[in-house]
Amino acid sequence: MRVNISPMKNGTGQLSEIYLDSRARILCPPELIPAPGQYVLAHADSSDDPLPVSVFFSDSAPNGFRCAPSLPLAWRPGTQLNLRGPLGHGFSIPAFARKVALIAFDESPARLYGLISIALKQDAEVVLVCETVMDDIPEAVEVQPLRAFMDIYQWADYAALDVARENLHQLGEMLGKTEQAKSPREAQVLVRTPMPCGAVAECGVCALTIRHEWKMVCKDGPVFEMNSIFPHKKG
Ligand code: FES
Repeated sequence: MRVNISPMKNGTGQLSEIYLDSRARILCPPELIPAPGQYVLAHADSSDDPLPVSVFFSDSAPNGFRCAPSLPLAWRPGTQLNLRGPLGHGFSIPAFARKVALIAFDESPARLYGLISIALKQDAEVVLVCETVMDDIPEAVEVQPLRAFMDIYQWADYAALDVARENLHQLGEMLGKTEQAKSPREAQVLVRTPMPCGAVAECGVCALTIRHEWKMVCKDGPVFEMNSIFPHKKG
């Protein structure tokens, strides 16, 4: 089950700190903080840029949250932000999960990072599959390179993946080689793509075809059940 869309709010925030791993701390009211997998649309107060940026949760932080990379280079500590959110469906780790795989298929694991503490709290073993090194991964988490993807996916009873829309086909091909009996009981996938309007203008930039139907990643996702994208897969 995915996290349902929360009541959306408008408000202001501030970029307060940029960390060495390119994540950043955003100060904002608690009701604007997205859950793991959800996002807020952020627009810098003084910016000429016409489009807002999708900002994803990565970790908790005092008076706001730590967001995933990468923010626009022009945003510096002190930049005032207009925020709208939280938006979209996020991840939800099922209560039965005791073997949790977090798989950054093609980029930073920062958007999956927020699931680590949730999984550990329910006494799950956690394996993070990624190519990007993050230096504050808890010791209890095993980190594996992407070449271990299929082994870890088959080991897990719940898997959360982060993948760019353009790489979904490649992911589907890899999963097509999995024996269904060895797939996790449940799997969810965060599809990354530009989401300039966050469903307000129905611009269609984030469109995805699933089973011959158009879905909007900004509001139908960005987290989808794996079996809704790849029907022959469990999850
Ligand atoms: S971002 Fe405009 S419809 Fe999804």
